Amino acid sequence: MNVTQLEFDGFRNLETGLIRPDPGVNIFYGNNAQGKTNLLESIWLFTGGRSFRGSKDLDTVGFDKERARLKLEFFAFERLQHAEILIQRKRSASLGGVQLPSPAGLAGNFCAVVFCPSHLSLIEDGPEERRRFIDAAYCQLRPGYIKILANFQRCLAQRNALLKNFKKVMGFTGADLSALEVWDERLAAAGAQVFLARSSYIRRLIPAAREIYKGISGGSESFSIRYLSNAGDENTTQEQAYKNLMEVFKVKQHEDLAAGFTTVGPHRDDLEILISGKSARIYGSQGQKRSAVIALKLAEASLLRDVTGEQPVALLDDVMSELDSVRQDYILNHIKGWQVFVTCCDPGPVLRLAGGKVFKIEQGRITQ
Ligand SMILES: Nc1ncnc2c1ncn2[C@@H]1O[C@H](COP(=O)(O)OP(=O)(O)OP(=O)(O)O)[C@@H](O)[C@H]1O
Ligand SMILES: [Mg+2]
Repeated sequence: MNVTQLEFDGFRNLETGLIRPDPGVNIFYGNNAQGKTNLLESIWLFTGGRSFRGSKDLDTVGFDKERARLKLEFFAFERLQHAEILIQRKRSASLGGVQLPSPAGLAGNFCAVVFCPSHLSLIEDGPEERRRFIDAAYCQLRPGYIKILANFQRCLAQRNALLKNFKKVMGFTGADLSALEVWDERLAAAGAQVFLARSSYIRRLIPAAREIYKGISGGSESFSIRYLSNAGDENTTQEQAYKNLMEVFKVKQHEDLAAGFTTVGPHRDDLEILISGKSARIYGSQGQKRSAVIALKLAEASLLRDVTGEQPVALLDDVMSELDSVRQDYILNHIKGWQVFVTCCDPGPVLRLAGGKVFKIEQGRITQ
């Protein structure tokens, strides 16, 4: 799939106007704070997800503007399509002129993967970032997963509310414990679904990421991922995951009652990312961590392509810094044939790649 035209009006610092990108590589260069990441963010919002910067919707409306409007024309599933996003009080979206119940309805229609330097947190920070990566990636692949996740979150919130209340009143009866067990069952059932979705996604992600990492590192390093969950391992079935979760909820019941929240379960799962058999978080160099995140992101894109038959658009924010020329070359060659939006301060390294369009961004003004 590829973007054929993007119009912005009142979005962050971007000057009202439009761009017509190349179906191949598009380079956006400029000094710091000119609007390069803002541009990638505007494209990303058409995946139906929230801003990859973690911004609130209203933060993206230009400082002196009442609303922001984005229009995307893109070619996908053998036809030209039109989508629109309006951010005014809240974010709303339409596709082909039809208003969607929520912007999440865009998922599966327009697909993109994004890499930005803050994604190094995927390796460096706590497990939440890694769970978010897996969940967001799987939502694009199987939009129905959004409901599974929401159901799990609801069950978790209910069980936590009950535990919190027991803690507050400093006591509970047998009837209270039966109520808790009802939520154990619901949470285990919802959790087993989340676990199965994540583990099946990770099983598919590993070979793709391994192959790409091998290419980036010139074959000198190996790459792997381990899914760490109380519900089981890569070979555990949904039924077994349910039983495992029921068991850990039972074992940890005292701890949960004392804490006033659910201390174990899929909301605590983690991924261990290994480079040449060693934890990337503990031992990885800057370049290795960056390569690992890029491998994960490009692998995510390959899986999307395999399932949907459409190559997602790649949004690469400041991807080249801290990578040696061998690693840079691999990335630029690997993404040939995709539509790519690359941002950089110095367009030199990216210009080694022939073809495509180069845009300059200066104070939100984009010129070709
Ligand atoms: N809602 C908004 N309205 C107007 N301007 C905004 C808004 N949000 C952010 N900005 C401005 O956008 C600019 C940052 O843009 P952006 O993050 O895209 O920069 P960049 O070109 O990617 O820079 P860098 O190279 O440092 O990453 C800042 O000057 C910021 O004040
Ligand atoms: Mg930026």
